[in-house]
Amino acid sequence: MSRIAYVNGRYLPLAAASVNIEDRGYQFSDGVYEVCEVRGGRLIDECLHMKRLAFSLSELRIGMPMSLSALSVVLHEVVRRNRVRWGIVYLQITRGVSRRDHAFPPAGTAPSVVVTARNLDLASAEKMATDGVSVISVPENRWARVDIKSVSLLPNVLAKQAAREQGAREAWFVDRDGCVTEGSSSNAWIVTRDGKVVTRPADHAILKGITRTVVIEAIAAQGLKLEERAFTLEEAHGAREAFITSASQIVLPVVSIDGRPVGNGAPGLVASALRRDFHRHAKTS
Ligand code: PDD
Repeated sequence: MSRIAYVNGRYLPLAAASVNIEDRGYQFSDGVYEVCEVRGGRLIDECLHMKRLAFSLSELRIGMPMSLSALSVVLHEVVRRNRVRWGIVYLQITRGVSRRDHAFPPAGTAPSVVVTARNLDLASAEKMATDGVSVISVPENRWARVDIKSVSLLPNVLAKQAAREQGAREAWFVDRDGCVTEGSSSNAWIVTRDGKVVTRPADHAILKGITRTVVIEAIAAQGLKLEERAFTLEEAHGAREAFITSASQIVLPVVSIDGRPVGNGAPGLVASALRRDFHRHAKTS
């Protein structure tokens, strides 16, 4: 079965789906995106993802290309046409097509919209959660507005590649104060020796993950203590547990950081319980 993409009003086989070479997403990475988990063919936390999309677009002064309800129809249609049971739907909106000039294109230039969806391998995801994953640390070198979910991801790409080359799943950015900001495509968490769950406050220095928001709810429901504060890499090295969160990975225990075991080197109880509980708190549409 050939995969189907939505591109500016049309559903096309992936091989035939294309954008103009003067699309500002292609030339300037002038656009935003969202990734939503698909489970049992349904979108998880669509409403929160759409709210964050509206925020990213408005911060960059890109117009909403269609109503949220029309966008929802497209997202569900792409999921349906690709027969996604468990996987992701990807949405990208750019400032549109215009002769190359750094400044914004003429008023009325239509934003470009692309939607794709695909299945992920549930068995290998579950195995990763059972085994835990490794992370490495890299210096924070991104711009000061990573709370906007922009497609401008070059530092994230390089960080992820560095992780791959060192046999790790993820790279954690560490700022000038020695504090972890987040992963290259996930939020970062630790559990202290006295059982407090710690994650960085959602300011301009991290993406406010939708999974993070739902995990905070799950933490409260489980009666765990949450501290939204910066934590250093050193504190992470001495933590009882660590984990990462993202739409496609849900909650994934971290068992080593820079080659040093976290806690006893096995997935922690808190991370595993939050993963188990996650979908009780997430919303299905
Ligand atoms: N990444 N931080 C960064 C830098 C991210 O790229 C992501 C998500 C997150 C977690 O956000 P959420 O819980 O809303 O997925 C945090 C997506 C999945 C990606 O780029 O594929």
